Amino acid sequence: MSQTTFSVLFVCLGNICRSPAAENIFRHQVEQAGLETYIHIDSAGTHDYHPGKSPDARMSNTLRKRNIPSIGAARQFTISDYSDFDLILTMDRDNHAGVSALARSAESSQKVTLFTSFCEHADHQIADVPDPYYGGDEGFELVADMLEDGCQQLLEHVLKKLDQ
Ligand code: 4NP
Repeated sequence: MSQTTFSVLFVCLGNICRSPAAENIFRHQVEQAGLETYIHIDSAGTHDYHPGKSPDARMSNTLRKRNIPSIGAARQFTISDYSDFDLILTMDRDNHAGVSALARSAESSQKVTLFTSFCEHADHQIADVPDPYYGGDEGFELVADMLEDGCQQLLEHVLKKLDQ
């Protein structure tokens, strides 16, 4: 299958910490590679806790220290995301179960993957990107480390899809 564009949706619980960070980190990497015309990126939450809210300030501060901007407005995952995105990457197994429960076809189910399956570093070979919301700064640093790691392999994966 040949594709001229590829779309990726990152999903977490509230869409204010992990998934917007993944969206912004991946977009940063994609822009550095000059590929923003070809790769569409967004994020969503399985729940509607913070509709329209910007990324959590603690997450944005962590990314700012890495020279990565944080933009976005929280929204909830909807069934139409299955038709709008080629790949749906969930931050943890709960998000995976929540998103998968809304799939109405095998084709949709196959789009859902755990983000950590793209992580390469030994410390990041765990199922879940841990939810940092109720913890300290070190939790946000770990999230950013895991996301930067996984997004590098994700970019290689998407490049292969665009080449095919
Ligand atoms: P996220 O983190 O799923 O990474 O955006 C959370 C954000 C909000 C809440 C929990 C986790 N909350 O309970 O409001």
